[in-house]
Amino acid sequence: GAGEMKDGATGGPPKRARPAPSLPTDASLYAGPFPFYRRPSELGCFSLDSERRYHGDSRALRYFAPPPAHGSAPDFDLREGYPERYRPRDEETREGLDHLLRWLLEHRGQLEGGPGWLAGAVVTWRGHLTKLLTTPYELREGWQLAASRLQGTLYLSEVETPAARAQRLARPPLLRELMYMGYKFEQYMCADTPGGSPDPSGEVNTNVAFCSVLRSRLGTHPLLFSGEVDCTDPKAPSTQPPACYVELKTSKEMHSPGQWRSFYRHKLLKWWAQSFLPGVPRVVAGFRDPEGSIRSLRTFPTMEMFELIRSYREGWNPSVCMNFCAAFLSFAQSTVTQDDPRLVHLFSWEPGGPVTVSIHHDAPYAFLPTWYVDAVTQ
Ligand code: A3P
Ligand code: MG
Ligand code: MG
Repeated sequence: GAGEMKDGATGGPPKRARPAPSLPTDASLYAGPFPFYRRPSELGCFSLDSERRYHGDSRALRYFAPPPAHGSAPDFDLREGYPERYRPRDEETREGLDHLLRWLLEHRGQLEGGPGWLAGAVVTWRGHLTKLLTTPYELREGWQLAASRLQGTLYLSEVETPAARAQRLARPPLLRELMYMGYKFEQYMCADTPGGSPDPSGEVNTNVAFCSVLRSRLGTHPLLFSGEVDCTDPKAPSTQPPACYVELKTSKEMHSPGQWRSFYRHKLLKWWAQSFLPGVPRVVAGFRDPEGSIRSLRTFPTMEMFELIRSYREGWNPSVCMNFCAAFLSFAQSTVTQDDPRLVHLFSWEPGGPVTVSIHHDAPYAFLPTWYVDAVTQ
């Protein structure tokens, strides 16, 4: 039609715009053998205090202190203290990778793996990897990951989607209370000292976090990531992290096989992905009644979760999750070719579609802080 460019008008070979690269996410494309995943090892840790200040130690680590196993049902009222003893973290503060970068800056000289290991690695939060693992099965929530390369290393930092932001700002009061209840459960299950007893009388302050920094490798992709850890079990058979760590979760009490099936299909996938990545061996779940009281506790060993869903049609498959994640990392590594901390490739995904890419410079997407860039490039 009018205004169309005529290929070859200048005599050279016809020039076609290369189709924008994209990555499909259909589960059927990622079946096949489970890929190599190196046993995660802990490189270090850090803590965030009640004011969200960074400390390069384990001061925020808590100790697993469950009620006696054969006593009566636990008596945890998860709504107790709400809202007067709730100090929620300010979710408007965009921390990006900052805390992890601070740890990395202080430890990059002592990293194992030999010279150049970090240059070939992907650095990110465990939570971002969890979202990648569950993508082939996710039907509701999309994501955006910003990627920048600096001195070889590929950094991935999540960007809140407009839909997620809108949902967060319009969060209904009941959902706010439900979030509190998840943290309140941690307070009932954890002590401040090994062998100590929980003290549920204090505040629930979600600024506080203990983060483990881990090294692993998925296929050919070396990984350095950090994840929040709920507690360590002083009585665990192995006292070596991450084998001593315990993930705590709450969920609605189930009454029918259909409710269990739905729990296995949806929630257990997320629990598995979150704990498998850092090598946390078990999730201890508290099941709450409609009034918000915990009625029972159940331990789910991470390596046995898949068995619970295996027999169902339309379940999830860990191989699909890991193969997709590996494919995404290859896609990101081959897409981000320029080494430039101010250049961002933004990977976007919405359920039903492929992962797409857009390119940005500087604000608002660039996420590597100048204090970090200057320190590593000096
Ligand atoms: P539950 O998962 O038991 O409900 P985590 O389990 O990852 O340690 O997170 C602790 C609690 O933070 C959760 O407890 C939940 O209350 C809240 N939380 C974590 N991720 C959330 C999310 N994406 N949306 C809402 N609440 C979340
Ligand atoms: Mg947690
Ligand atoms: Mg938890």
